[in-house]
Parts: sequence; structure tokens; C-alpha cells
Amino acid sequence: MTQMKMEFDGHSLITPAAIAGELEADRGERFEEYLAEGRGELALMLELARQQFEKGEDPTRAIDRVTRSLHDIRGRLPTRVWQELMPFIQGHPIAEFFLQDPLTRWSWDKPRGYSGDARLLDFIYRHESVTEDVARATDLGRALFEYTSTAPSSLANWDRRDILAAQVDEVAAANGPGTEVLSVAAGHLREAEYSAAFKEKRLKRWVALDQDPISIGTIARDYQGTAVEAIDGSVRAILTGRQQPGKFDLVYASGLYDYLIDKVAIKLTQRCLEMLKPNGTFLFANYSYPILVDGYIETFMNWQLLLRSEADMWNIIHACDENGKYESKVFFGKNRNIVYGVMKKRS
Ligand SMILES: C[S@@+](CC[C@H](N)C(=O)[O-])C[C@H]1O[C@@H](n2cnc3c(N)ncnc32)[C@H](O)[C@@H]1O
Repeated sequence: MTQMKMEFDGHSLITPAAIAGELEADRGERFEEYLAEGRGELALMLELARQQFEKGEDPTRAIDRVTRSLHDIRGRLPTRVWQELMPFIQGHPIAEFFLQDPLTRWSWDKPRGYSGDARLLDFIYRHESVTEDVARATDLGRALFEYTSTAPSSLANWDRRDILAAQVDEVAAANGPGTEVLSVAAGHLREAEYSAAFKEKRLKRWVALDQDPISIGTIARDYQGTAVEAIDGSVRAILTGRQQPGKFDLVYASGLYDYLIDKVAIKLTQRCLEMLKPNGTFLFANYSYPILVDGYIETFMNWQLLLRSEADMWNIIHACDENGKYESKVFFGKNRNIVYGVMKKRS
């Protein structure tokens, strides 16, 4: 992970500019040379793809070619050169085609004011709540949506939702009807729709905490009269102890660590561990390397993520468990685009 200069909590608004500002790499040697080469290569590739769109050629092939090329170029260029080229890519006329995809458009527009909001996840999940938006898109937009919503990173999100639901079910099976669960940065808590324990009313409490009042409102409406309790609260409120939701058999954070530098991630992990009951489990998820769509999401979606390796996950775990009080593991989801850390309190 690139080292950041200052602490970043992402109290509420996580913007690409904020993350990019923190991640700014050094220029390094031959900066200008790499920059000129990169710009030339990108200009050619993007113009070719733009012409393919103009001619009405298969949009899936065109977006796939651009996605793979951006991934390849991003991987080859020094980080700072890539950062410098991002506005050039974003400003290219081909963006007009990509922005017809409702998923790319939502990410680019950021109607909630920050990246990776719960409605973006609904587009990725192809949730019924976005059906009308997708239907309203152009033919090209719908074709591109088929590609972006089933890209490996999107499929990894579907898998993550299933893994979360399965984890809740496992903890509920072990702890019985008194089971209490906390989701930090819950978004729309879509994993609840996949949990048997939730559907069969076998949970005492499933607290869903998020800093976005619209998401909290959606959860409160969708899960009215169930074990789900929606709480409007931020990571900062948890860290400072202003928010004390109680003790839990399972605490998890998904779609959050991707925005937190190690220092904050470690502090949050420590705090989450303090909220566990005896035998409690903590789970955190993070996008990992390599992600095929990294270049596309950083540019045309204007969405920055902090990727973590298996070793990065272990570093967080070790920093929070110097005395071996937890049984821990790190594992990858189905296509290795997302990595998971699990810490279970030893009895
Ligand atoms: C990508 S969504 C993840 C939703 C869900 N957990 C999932 O895995 O599908 C990220 C969520 O994190 C929330 N979030 C971001 N920064 C936060 C913070 N500092 N405190 C609380 N919630 C935060 C956002 O409001 C958003 O709903």
C-alpha cells in the first residue's frame, strides 16, 4: 500500500481528490519521458476505442479492450505518472460513451457527495431498486452496464455479500437466539436478504451503522419491524467512543477499509475487537491486487480504492493482537479480488 502522509479518517465524505491527495507519489526519474510516452499510448488506444463506439461496433469488446489496456498501462507506469495522466484520460471524448452506463455515471456524478456509496453498490449488485434506472439508460448504456456490473470486481462484491450472510448465519448457529451483530459502514445492508438466520428471525439484534443518513433511512424503511437497528454514525464517532452500540457476537466492516490508511484501520480494528462478547468474531474485507478494472474505476468512475494484499491484512491483525488472544485467518473470496481478515476471540 502506498504510504500516506497524514491521517485520514473519512469522517463522512470520502472523495477521490481527498484520497489522491494523500496518496501522491514522488515524481521519480525520467518522469517527463514516461509521461509523454504514456500520453501517446493512451491517446492512440482511447481514440481507436472511441471510433469503434462511433461505428456502432460491439460495445462490450470496446470497453473490455479499454479496461484491459488501462490496467496494463497503469501497472507499467510509475504511480506518479499514472496519477498525472488520470485527468487526461477522464477528459477524453470517449467518456461520453462510458458515462451512458448507469453504474459508471453514478460513480462519476457522486450524487451522495462521496465515492462508493450504497446506491453504487446496488448498481453493482443489480439490485431491484435500480431496475428502472437501468431501463432508462440508452441501448449502449445497458450494454455497458452488462459489462461493468458483471466485471470481476463486481462479482467479487456479490461473493462478499454471500460471505457476510454466511458469517452471520454461522455465528447465529453457534450463539442461538441472543445473537447480536454489528455492521460498520452498512450501506443498505443488502446481505441481510441472503441470511437464513435473519429471515427465520433467529437474531436478537443486527445493528447497521453508517454515516449516510439516506442509507440509514433506506435500512430503517426496508427492515422496519425486524431485528435490524439502523444507526446514523461515523467511524470517527466509534473511535472517539461517542458511539457505543454495545457488545456483539459478530462485528464486521465491508466496503470501508478500502478507504482507511493503516493507522486508522488498526485503530478501528482495536475498537471493533473491544465491542466483541467472549468468543466474538470480527471480520473485515478489502479489495486486493490485482484488479482488472483498477484503471477504469480510477478514471472513468473517478473512484479511488486502497487495495490490500494478504500481508497487509496480516499486518493489521498482528498490530491488534500482540498477545495471541485471537484465532485469526486471512482468505480470499472466489476470484481473489477481495481479501478477508477474520479474528475470533479465544475462549
Ligand atoms: C461501499 S459501501 C459498503 C456497504 C456494505 N457494507 C457492503 O459491503 O455492501 C460503503 C459505505 O461506507 C459508509 N462509510 C464511509 N465512510 C464512513 C465513515 N467514516 N463512517 C461510517 N460509514 C462510512 C458509506 O456511507 C457507505 O454506505
